[in-house]
Amino acid sequence: MTTAFLNGDFLPLSEAKISPMDRGFLFGDGIYEVIPTYSGNPVGFNGHAARMAEGLRAIGIDNPYDKEAWRDIVTNLVAKNSASFTSSNIGVYLHVSRGTDTKRFHAYPSNIAPTVFGFVFEIAPPQVVSRTDVKPLKVALEQDKRWQRCHIKSTSLLGNVMHFQQGVDAGVNETILYNQDGNITEASSCNVFMVKDGVIYTPPLNHELLPGITRAIALEAFASVGLDVKETWFSKESLLSADEVWLTSSSKEVAPVVEVNGKTIGSGDVGEVWEKAIKAYHAHKFEA
Ligand code: PDD
Repeated sequence: MTTAFLNGDFLPLSEAKISPMDRGFLFGDGIYEVIPTYSGNPVGFNGHAARMAEGLRAIGIDNPYDKEAWRDIVTNLVAKNSASFTSSNIGVYLHVSRGTDTKRFHAYPSNIAPTVFGFVFEIAPPQVVSRTDVKPLKVALEQDKRWQRCHIKSTSLLGNVMHFQQGVDAGVNETILYNQDGNITEASSCNVFMVKDGVIYTPPLNHELLPGITRAIALEAFASVGLDVKETWFSKESLLSADEVWLTSSSKEVAPVVEVNGKTIGSGDVGEVWEKAIKAYHAHKFEA
């Protein structure tokens, strides 16, 4: 049994209980983060804390903790749970909902305290850096049918869940999404990169995609080793004719994709630029 965090207390996960009147349960009214840690070292903690603060601000919830208090919660969750797992690769989930009300009414209530929940889970080991050893992904391609506020890391994830399930139903690992203009936005739980003629492309940040922390660390890492990167919109046709496609997320790091919607990407093998990219990412990820 792992140890969770609920409203100031560390307790066995099975004893962590909230009211069904919690607005997180009734409305998906909350913000969350997933922070990867390896041997106790978090990746991108500052970015995750800043995105959490920004998300809470955007939806009008007072941030219950400052950055250092959040860091203590993460450190404690990892320390208290390290013996529960066979590896030291631990993901930390943090969640703040608006809190528990006495009635179901859409407007933000003024006098309720946020519910704060954290738990841990085992994540994949650091991504291997060899083109031949890495297990590449296959993905589906669908029109993005989510809401217009995808930059907020909201716990209202039904749109993402439904898109992820489209990939599962197609027998693949993820679903890459395109907007009404036919441009790639992101995937249901990852950001998207592609490589064409040696140049790395990823969509620029706006309301149509999450400002991924892995994306941000990767962009810094790639620039630091002189890789050519452009934050530019690209179409689904460009994606299908790319030399390489990658997904980034806290749990996947930088993951190569070799098939999109049944179409082979490039030669069908993991690309050379990916190998440079994942090396640069690993070299930089604990600095960010
Ligand atoms: N998913 N886009 C979406 C829609 C996401 O849900 C995520 C993260 C990302 C990548 O963000 P980051 O690099 O900060 O993890 C992009 C998390 C891991 C999840 O929901 O489990």
